[in-house]
Amino acid sequence: MNTGIFINGKSEEGSAGDRIDVFNPATGDVIENIAAGTPADASRAVDVAAAAQAGWAQTAPRVRSEILRSAFEIMIEKREELAQLITAEHGKPIADARGEITYAAEFFRWNAEETVRIHGSISRAPGGDKNIIVRHPPVGVVVMVTPWNFPAAMITRKLAPALGAGNGVVIKPPRETPLTALHIAELLQEVGLPDGLLNIVAAKSSGDWFDAAVENKATRMVSFTGSTEVGQVLLRRCADRVLKTVMELGGNAPFVVFNDADIPSAVEGAMTAKMRHSAETCTAANRFYVESGIAPEFTEALAAAMGDIKVGAGTDESVTCGPMINPGAISDIDALVKSAVDAGANTVIGGNALDGPGFFYEPTVLSNVDHSSPICSAEIFGPVAPIITFDDTDTMIAQANDTEMGLMGYVFTGDLARGLSVSERIEAGMIGLNRGAVSDPAAPFGGMKQSGLGREGAGEGIYEFCETQYIAASW
Ligand code: SIN
Repeated sequence: MNTGIFINGKSEEGSAGDRIDVFNPATGDVIENIAAGTPADASRAVDVAAAAQAGWAQTAPRVRSEILRSAFEIMIEKREELAQLITAEHGKPIADARGEITYAAEFFRWNAEETVRIHGSISRAPGGDKNIIVRHPPVGVVVMVTPWNFPAAMITRKLAPALGAGNGVVIKPPRETPLTALHIAELLQEVGLPDGLLNIVAAKSSGDWFDAAVENKATRMVSFTGSTEVGQVLLRRCADRVLKTVMELGGNAPFVVFNDADIPSAVEGAMTAKMRHSAETCTAANRFYVESGIAPEFTEALAAAMGDIKVGAGTDESVTCGPMINPGAISDIDALVKSAVDAGANTVIGGNALDGPGFFYEPTVLSNVDHSSPICSAEIFGPVAPIITFDDTDTMIAQANDTEMGLMGYVFTGDLARGLSVSERIEAGMIGLNRGAVSDPAAPFGGMKQSGLGREGAGEGIYEFCETQYIAASW
């Protein structure tokens, strides 16, 4: 497979000859070595994308749409080999990797449909003196910086609407999981995407790479998924060029369980919200607020479900939680657990890193957690469920909202009216009401507050990659 940088439809060595090792987090072993590009390579990729984009923007939407539709079909056809690649470089259980490929492919199908429905408008001005024509041309070249937790889906969620709207793209894939990105580029070439529209340049030094890419005058937009800290740095850099941005940043989701909730469904929802993709999602339930009347029973049932998880290498079909991405992730998770326990939390199950090889952490439930504990303000990104008991709904909502993050929240209750009213009061871009999974290409994914800017998916996703032009016309 292609292990070079991918520019203008060709795999090349980076101009400085740099290489990056790719590790299997289940063993710590190097599984591949890929080329890394220099800042000059990143800027050259932007020039190539700009040259290809001019013709692409003029291509009939139906033609663009059909290429996206073929991309959906080829991803589904190659699901198994793509899933194996994800599990090899990310570590997630193979069933999750297969699920990710289906999810990733659906962004191509959805945006194939959206591509032929980018609507403008025409209206007569209220004063009657002119006509107001509004149209949505593509922005031009979009630079994308994608994360390692969904090596395929976080690419296709950006790439499909960007291409559908008529843009050219340069992607910096994560150094942890670049292989899936390179394979997706090969598949797009196979289904006839013209050369130059998709360029993938991995980097050894992300900061210099990004500066060169956004300083190139042809770049008009940046789409980033990753931590809020990194997003803030990128936004400052984009400000100098007043670039359009879409930012999908960190989360700190509260998961609320009321006394009248059905315990088996709340536990099932909690396991999905916490543990999907080995608990390394920005939508993961980070803090569990459980009403006191149900807290002992819910805690016991959740601990039993966490105890049933099989931790191990994702290639084993029976494993339900894979390794964390690297040793640093293990120490961060462990430090949060230890500080919560030092502050008085009880370890109901788990609480420790597991011996290697590989980077594994025990599925953990902590009870009696204090809302002021660092584990309630940091994004855990690991298999740990801290439980806080509440009696007063207003106090609980104030605590749930006591964070700069606002990506996701979950509410479980048997009373739909209460569920809706509490959902409305949680300051988050997405709410799972009696559900632990919400992600869907047809729904707007994104956060409030410091969790992000803009939305991916749904009807609005493709318009993020468009400009708005108004023509005042008389005839
Ligand atoms: C993420 O964790 O970044 C994305 C999660 C999702 O799409 O469900």
